[in-house]
Amino acid sequence: MKQSWWHDAVVYQIYPRSFMDSNNDGIGDIPGIISRLDYLKELGVDVLWLSPVFKSPMDDNGYDISDYDDIAPEFGTLADMDRLIEQAGQRGIRILLDLVVNHSSDEHPWFQQARQSKDNPYRDFYIWRQPRADGSPPNQLRAAFAGSAWELDEATGEYYLHLFSKKQPDLNWQNPNVRTEVYAMMNRWLDRGIAGFRMDVIEMLGKVPDQEVIVNGPDLHDILQEMHQQTLAGRDTLTVGETWAATTDIAKLYSNPERKELSMVFGFDHIRLSYHPQAGKWRPKPFDLVELKQVFAHWQTELAGEGWNSLFWNNHDLARSVSIYGDEGEYRLKSAKMLATVIHGMQGTPYIYQGEEIGMTNVRFDHLEDYQDIETRNHYAEKLVEGYNHDELMAAIHTHSRDNARTPMQWDDSEYAGFSQVTPWIKVNPNYRDINVQQDRHRQDSLFRHYQQLIRLRKSHEILVYGSFELLLPEHPTVFAYLRHYQNKTLLVVNSFARETVTVELPATWQNCSCETLITNDVVRTQLPETLQLSPYESFMVILNHQ
Ligand code: NOJ
Repeated sequence: MKQSWWHDAVVYQIYPRSFMDSNNDGIGDIPGIISRLDYLKELGVDVLWLSPVFKSPMDDNGYDISDYDDIAPEFGTLADMDRLIEQAGQRGIRILLDLVVNHSSDEHPWFQQARQSKDNPYRDFYIWRQPRADGSPPNQLRAAFAGSAWELDEATGEYYLHLFSKKQPDLNWQNPNVRTEVYAMMNRWLDRGIAGFRMDVIEMLGKVPDQEVIVNGPDLHDILQEMHQQTLAGRDTLTVGETWAATTDIAKLYSNPERKELSMVFGFDHIRLSYHPQAGKWRPKPFDLVELKQVFAHWQTELAGEGWNSLFWNNHDLARSVSIYGDEGEYRLKSAKMLATVIHGMQGTPYIYQGEEIGMTNVRFDHLEDYQDIETRNHYAEKLVEGYNHDELMAAIHTHSRDNARTPMQWDDSEYAGFSQVTPWIKVNPNYRDINVQQDRHRQDSLFRHYQQLIRLRKSHEILVYGSFELLLPEHPTVFAYLRHYQNKTLLVVNSFARETVTVELPATWQNCSCETLITNDVVRTQLPETLQLSPYESFMVILNHQ
C-alpha cells in the first residue's frame, strides 16, 4: 500500500468551547488552545481537529456557521488562528478544521438573501418546497434534533429543509453555485495552512428530499470526487468524513485512494451497540462484547488494503468511553488504559478526544436545566410527549447526552478545574478534584503516559500501522484478543473487559511462547502460559517470538 503521512499519525480532537479559556469569559478559545500546545506536543499527537470555530449564532455550538471565513469572537480572531497554525506547525502538529457544509446558519448572508423573495439569486442555495394543500409540510422527514425537518417561511409562503435545527437550513448541493462557493472557501483555508478537514455529516450531500433519501444519495460520490478535484488534488491533506450510515462497502468507496474522495471516514457501528436498535440512544442498552468484536473485526478485515479505518471511542457527540465500556470506579484508570490499547492496537488512524487521556467520565447533572445541548433539550421535550417518563429520560441523558463530552477540560483541582477563572458556559464535572491533568501527571500509573507510550509505539513499530488483523476467541464474552501480522512478525493484543479475574486459552501455537511486552496496564510478560490468567481489565500488547 502506498504510504501516507497520516497512516501513522494520531489525531487529537479539541472542542474549543470547553478546552481552555484564556480571557475569562467562561468560553474556551483559540489563545487557550495555543497555551496548551506544549501539553499536546508532550502527549505526542500529530494533528489537532478543532470542532467549528467560525462565526456562528451558536444554536448548535458552532455547527451552524454564519461566516465560513471568519472566527467567532468568543473563540478569537483570524490572527489567532494564523498563530495557532504557525505555533502548532513549529511543534510538528497540523491543524484540521471542521467543514460544516451540509447546512449553514439561518444567519448566513446566503440564507438572509434567500428568504428575501422567491426570485432572489440565492433562493436556490437552499431547499424550498410548497406546502401541501392543507398547509402542512411537504413530507414526513424528521429533523435530527426533533420535530419536522421542514420550517415554514411565513414571508414567502414556502417551507425550507433543515435536517438539524431550524436555524440550520440545508444547503442545496444540486446547485453548482453552492459547490463553487464551498470549494473556493475550502481552498482559502487550505492556502492558509491547514492540513485538511473533518467533514460534518458528509454523507448527506447527495440527499433527495422529495424521496425522503437523506444519506448515501445517488450523487454523493460524484460530488465528493468533484470536491476532491477542485480542492484537495495536488495537496497532501487528511480528510475524514462523519458517516453514521456507512457500511464497510460504503467506507471503501470513500476511502479507497484510487477513487480520490477522502482519506478515511468515521464508522459508528461499534458506537450504536449501546443504543436501542429502533428507539436509538435515548433508550440505552448495555453493549455486547461479542458483537463489538465482530464489528471491529469486520471493519478491520474489510478495509484492509482497500481503504483506511479511523479508530475512536469518543467525540463531542458521544458519551465518555470509560463510562460506557470501562469502569468509572475502582478500575477507572486501568480500564481506560485497556480501552486505549484496544483502539491503538488496530489498523487505522487513532483519534483521542480531549480529556480521554486523563480518563474523564460522563457527568450526571440532576437538573435538565444544567444541560446546554440543543439535542438533549429538544429530545427530552419530544420524548416526554411520546410517553417516556422523566426518570427514564434523565437516565438516558446521563448515559448518552452529548454534554457528557462537553463539560470543561479538567486541568487541575482549582475552582472551575483550571479551565477558566469564571463560571463556565457549562458546569464542570464535580469529579474534577480527583480527575484532572495535574493529578494524573503525578501518578505512577498515569493514563496520559499510557497514551504517550501508545503513540510512540505506533511510530516505532510498523506492524501497528500496516499489520493485518486476526481476531482470536471471537465467542469469548469478556476478552477481546487479536493478532497483527507483518513481515514475519506477530503482535498479540489481549484486553479483558471483565471486573473479575478470567482465564483464557490462547491458540496452541502461542502457548508457552516467549514474548516481549510493548505495553501493559499490569504485569510485564516474557512468556505466555498455557492458560492465560487475566486480572480485572488487564490489557497488554506483546511481540511474539515465533517458535
Ligand atoms: C454532526 C456533529 O458532530 C454534531 O455535533 C452536529 O450537531 C451535527 N453534525 C450538525 O452539524
